[in-house]
Amino acid sequence: MRTQTTHSPGPLGTATRPALSGRGLVKRYGNQHALAGVDIDIQQGEAVAIVGPSGSGKTSLLHVLAGILPVDSGEVLLSGNRIDNLNETKRSELRRTEFGFVFQSGMLVAELSAEENAALPLLLGGMSRSKAIADARQWLDRLGLGGKGTRRPGELSGGEAQRVAIARALAHRPSVIFADEPTGALDTRTGGDTMNALLGAAAENGAAVVIVTHDRDLAQSVPRTVTIRDGRIDTAVRQS
Ligand SMILES: Nc1ncnc2c1ncn2[C@@H]1O[C@H](COP(=O)(O)OP(=O)(O)O)[C@@H](O)[C@H]1O
Ligand SMILES: [Mg+2]
Repeated sequence: MRTQTTHSPGPLGTATRPALSGRGLVKRYGNQHALAGVDIDIQQGEAVAIVGPSGSGKTSLLHVLAGILPVDSGEVLLSGNRIDNLNETKRSELRRTEFGFVFQSGMLVAELSAEENAALPLLLGGMSRSKAIADARQWLDRLGLGGKGTRRPGELSGGEAQRVAIARALAHRPSVIFADEPTGALDTRTGGDTMNALLGAAAENGAAVVIVTHDRDLAQSVPRTVTIRDGRIDTAVRQS
């Protein structure tokens, strides 16, 4: 487990430091403002849902915070350190070590078994194959997939495949998990179960989780909701 020990003291000695912050984030595609100045703080271990209509900028925000997409202006800080100005090699390393990702439809490697898929970030991090597979198996067990580790993605249901993706996102114990419409390809009930599996596993690991969804019902199970509209945080909507 990641231990949640001391928060770094702020300038006044007592303030906690957010895990991840965006300051004045602007992202344009040509004339189109995908993000028109977004400020957001995500605390260590906090779960936040980003909701908003299609095209409002949710995915752009996620990608900017995760260092996948460069910003046109603004800053992204991880534990108080700027990450938006790192070069691509450093950002890629950061994504591999500090972040975990769950996408709408698994993005699992079809040729690999469930446990091999879940073990990938550990193998990329240099762990031995036997240890990585053993760890991955534990994650799969915790997500209710015990005994299914040797199946390939094609032999799993949609909900099971998403839980493999969750195991993969958590296995290297990242500080922040990003999930973009993780339940978008699932029926309502499986979507709810998957959301709970994600929230539970992230909480157990002390990882913050940022979940993009356009489904307000699903967002209700997340403690804090941030609404985005036309590339801006909608402050008219209650934020928690
Ligand atoms: N690669 C891209 N090229 C051009 N426009 C884009 C691109 N990605 C997103 N956009 C535009 O930016 C806006 C925000 O998109 P996005 O962040 O994907 O929103 P959401 O995830 O909320 O649906 C939309 O108007 C979308 O059309
Ligand atoms: Mg999107």
